[in-house]
Amino acid sequence: MLEPRAAVRIGEPSSHAVSRAVKVERVSACADRIAHIRLVSADGRPLPRWTPGSHIDVVCGETGLSRQYSLCGDPNERAAFEIAVLREPESRGGSSWVHANVKAGDVLRIRGPRNHFRFTGDAKKAVFIAGGIGITPVSAMAREAKARGIDYEIHYSGARRASMALVGELAALHGERLHVYVSEEGTRNDFAARFAQADADTHIYACGPARMLEALEASCAHWPGDALRVEHFASTKGVLDPSKEEAFEVELKDSGLVLTVRADQTVLDALQHANIDVQSDCREGLCGSCEVRVLKGRVDHRDMVLTRGEREANDRMMTCCSRACGGERLVIEL
Ligand code: FES
Repeated sequence: MLEPRAAVRIGEPSSHAVSRAVKVERVSACADRIAHIRLVSADGRPLPRWTPGSHIDVVCGETGLSRQYSLCGDPNERAAFEIAVLREPESRGGSSWVHANVKAGDVLRIRGPRNHFRFTGDAKKAVFIAGGIGITPVSAMAREAKARGIDYEIHYSGARRASMALVGELAALHGERLHVYVSEEGTRNDFAARFAQADADTHIYACGPARMLEALEASCAHWPGDALRVEHFASTKGVLDPSKEEAFEVELKDSGLVLTVRADQTVLDALQHANIDVQSDCREGLCGSCEVRVLKGRVDHRDMVLTRGEREANDRMMTCCSRACGGERLVIEL
């Protein structure tokens, strides 16, 4: 059965608006420009359980910003959340705020954890591909694969060894299953060679920069549609350009309501305008929280979440970005 990635509710506020206080237990530099932060409960109660691939939203003080960071610790440890925060060179927002302000003893507000990049563990083998700070969700997944006794490999690429977080910890935990590629040292992960032979018993989980993920997707184009599962840092689909879009209709199965999605609107905009509260977070096709089931009509998928196989199935869509093909009416399960 198709499992929705997130609950969709009508007339209720989104639950992810609820935040909790956590205490910063430790901040340490784990690589150039990367702070490893350990957060513990602020009131002594255990933290919520989480699964590999989950992230938390960190509220950046009074700036009005919040930023998502993948959890990179041990999912079985209930006492702490661990994140690794890269200070982006151009950042004047979240990551620079974290680096400038967060210190041991502080109390932060966070939301989550939530997981839009699940490790299912239902293939015989898992291949984990990480680029740069993309190692954070991958490290938790690899730990889980090891705990479950699944065959797995980790392939971790970075520009310089000093800029790569968690290498020592990964090497200690995974030994020869860890493969490290460092551009500065002339080593690189050759995706075309590695994935030349499609394997129906292997799933590939990847997180990293857009260029790396595009190359990986191209190298896995001949693999089964659900083999590659990817988490992107940013959307590469561009912003909505009303001059290039057309309006279409969306029919809501439960109420029979028919909404027009204008060329300058998303389906999510139209739903919210009609007071139908669909959970949403990133609003750019990255997180999966605005997913709805599609019962009729062809979807022009523009998200970065669904696998190729899921797109081809045409039975779900991300309402914050995806549209109808050729102005067709879509019928959705709401
Ligand atoms: S709100 Fe994140 S994918 Fe739509």
